[in-house]
Amino acid sequence: MVTNVQWIIEEEVPQNYAYLQAVFKGEKGKVYVLLVEKKEGYTFLVGLGKRQEITPETFRVCGGEIAKQAQALQVKTLGFCYCEIGHVTIEDQIGALVEGLELGQYRFENYKSDQKEVVPITYTIDGIPNEDKGAYIIKEAKNKAEGICFARDLINEPANKLYPEVLAQKVLDISEKYGLEVKVFDEHEIEELGMHAMLAVGNGSIHRPRLIVIKHLKGDDEPIYGIVGKGLTCDTGGYSLKSSDSMYYNKSDMSGAANAIGIMLALAKNNIKKNVIAVIPTCENVISDRSYKIGDVLTTKLGKTVEVLNTDAEGRLVLADALTYIVKEEKVDCIIDMATLTGVAGTTFGNIYTPIISNNDQLYANFMEAAKCTEELFWKLPTHEIYRSWINSDVADLKNTGGAGTITAAMFLQEFVEDKPWLHMDIAATACTNPPLYSYGYKGGTGIGIRTIYHLIKGFKCAE
Ligand code: BES
Ligand code: ZN
Ligand code: ZN
Repeated sequence: MVTNVQWIIEEEVPQNYAYLQAVFKGEKGKVYVLLVEKKEGYTFLVGLGKRQEITPETFRVCGGEIAKQAQALQVKTLGFCYCEIGHVTIEDQIGALVEGLELGQYRFENYKSDQKEVVPITYTIDGIPNEDKGAYIIKEAKNKAEGICFARDLINEPANKLYPEVLAQKVLDISEKYGLEVKVFDEHEIEELGMHAMLAVGNGSIHRPRLIVIKHLKGDDEPIYGIVGKGLTCDTGGYSLKSSDSMYYNKSDMSGAANAIGIMLALAKNNIKKNVIAVIPTCENVISDRSYKIGDVLTTKLGKTVEVLNTDAEGRLVLADALTYIVKEEKVDCIIDMATLTGVAGTTFGNIYTPIISNNDQLYANFMEAAKCTEELFWKLPTHEIYRSWINSDVADLKNTGGAGTITAAMFLQEFVEDKPWLHMDIAATACTNPPLYSYGYKGGTGIGIRTIYHLIKGFKCAE
């Protein structure tokens, strides 16, 4: 039985639903379930809010609400109509709706004993003027959502189940399926590459580090985008031990890596004709007799030395070597990195906005243009040479701490990108949220940034 979905615009509620006024006025994202005759099944009235305020995100939010409602009522099949809005294009409307419907169905129940079988909701969207184009948009949005759900799964896996070797294997498994080129470096090869800062961070663990390189080179001689994702499968802080409470999120310290993998998956599944290389340094930051210590001086792959003043500021050490790797060995044309780098990112913005740091106005402008379409929220922080002086060390070239946490952490990374256009996202507060912020979210991994970076790569030029 098909459950029909009827879009309702707040100031245009049809006369026959006027009687619902006390409970449903067409408010944005609100779903009202009508059951007229049992044999005819339900009708969902779904509010879009005020016409002028409708954006693609409205449909994403509605899609998420509809998915949750359908799951609760065990509705299996939905029937939609394309809704003529005027200022929202068909592509944007359908794409966002499908993303909301797919993402809204996401669950993470791998470790529940009484697993209920979940059948995906099927749906049709009528009234799309160009059917072929409509079918492509639906498929593309589904693939994107699949990339995001894959990333969410990786983030939500606990550290005892997902460690560097397992993460690498999961990437190898999907690469075969989707035609991505993957190379996994073990600790000996990482040593040969001279990535001593990364090795120091991972040295305390029985689960040895891996460097995962994923290539999607389908853009002929176009520039190559580089993506780097922080892949700490567990961050206890090491000798600068975190408190028990602040260790709750330690398993999600590989969200940057997960998101990078999600992007590559989405690009490959949609056969996007661009060149992208993702580099994922993955290791565990734990205490043992082999762990790196406070006061140690590390030599990075680039040759710069770093004094370790806090073993919990490990992300920048691992990323420093990964950035040098992607610049020197892969010769990409620009770099975007995603990292759960500093807890204070959330002190500033809560879990709403993701802070951005960039050394290139063009790349930043392109990124924000893409973010305007995807409606993910980012905000740029300043860099200033005085901040840079705050990471000077007394004994080495750099130290791994310094005031103005999110900024100095990013400026530490900037030391390793050389002259490449670079944009850094500190996703510490937005990669993993509980409770979720959006109807199409779920407690745990979010996949923040995947949609925007996908959109940027697909549609915009690399920075000069
Ligand atoms: N992975 C953490 C940052 C983090 C904190 C992510 C909370 C998600 C939730 C990072 O490695 C870290 O511990 N950073 C330190 C840096 C400090 C020691 C300079 C921090 O934010 O406290
Ligand atoms: Zn840390
Ligand atoms: Zn960390």
